[in-house]
Amino acid sequence: MPTELITVLDVDTREEALDIVSTCKGCAWFKIGFQLFTREGPPIVHAIQDMGRQVFLDLKFHDIPNTIAKGARSAADMGVSLTTLHAVGGRKMIARAREAVEGTNTRLLAVTILTSLSDEMLREEVGLPETAAQAVPRLARMAVEAGAHGIVCSPLEIQGVRQAVGPEPLVVTPGVRPRWSSKDDQARVMTPAEAARAGANMVVVGRPILKHENRAEAVRLIQEELAG
Ligand code: C5P
Repeated sequence: MPTELITVLDVDTREEALDIVSTCKGCAWFKIGFQLFTREGPPIVHAIQDMGRQVFLDLKFHDIPNTIAKGARSAADMGVSLTTLHAVGGRKMIARAREAVEGTNTRLLAVTILTSLSDEMLREEVGLPETAAQAVPRLARMAVEAGAHGIVCSPLEIQGVRQAVGPEPLVVTPGVRPRWSSKDDQARVMTPAEAARAGANMVVVGRPILKHENRAEAVRLIQEELAG
């Protein structure tokens, strides 16, 4: 299975989102986050599905198990293919979410440690005695044992996460930049080919596609790279 490309819809309106979906010909997956979903709600999910595409709803759930189970079921009832929750919500929260989506086409991805948190912030602000490099594989393993179908991680964490969870779970990574594009504010990146070789099942790409003068061509170039 070649590594799949997911295009990011980090925009405010339905019009902008649907324009991206229709111009990104050849891309089968789109990621809707907090920004777009809060403004446009389930109708934007259904509009994209009606265009024959799959939706990754990235809302990073983190709450008590009962609430998360209900939210995960709502996401599954919307027909989203992927959704996210925080591993630090714990084993029971993840297990309840998994039960709630069982028998549906929705798969759960766990977020371990946000890449915006430095080791110093983890220690001083979060009170975590581990570095991110230690915490990420530990949380990934726990999340998968609890029922997550996969993990979202930085490209530089793919190897450690793969070692921790084995070959089966999905590994999905943002922070991917083709050589021909700007890094924008992403500090530590890999190219699509490098991420695929490192073991990513799916890569999440935003600005290199959205800012490209020919989005369909950007999608094609990235997919060509992913296919090796
Ligand atoms: O435009 P760009 O390709 O940088 O978009 C990457 C997407 O992945 C954005 O939606 C961003 O919020 C998300 N993301 C990330 N790094 C993380 C987690 C999520 O870039 N560690």
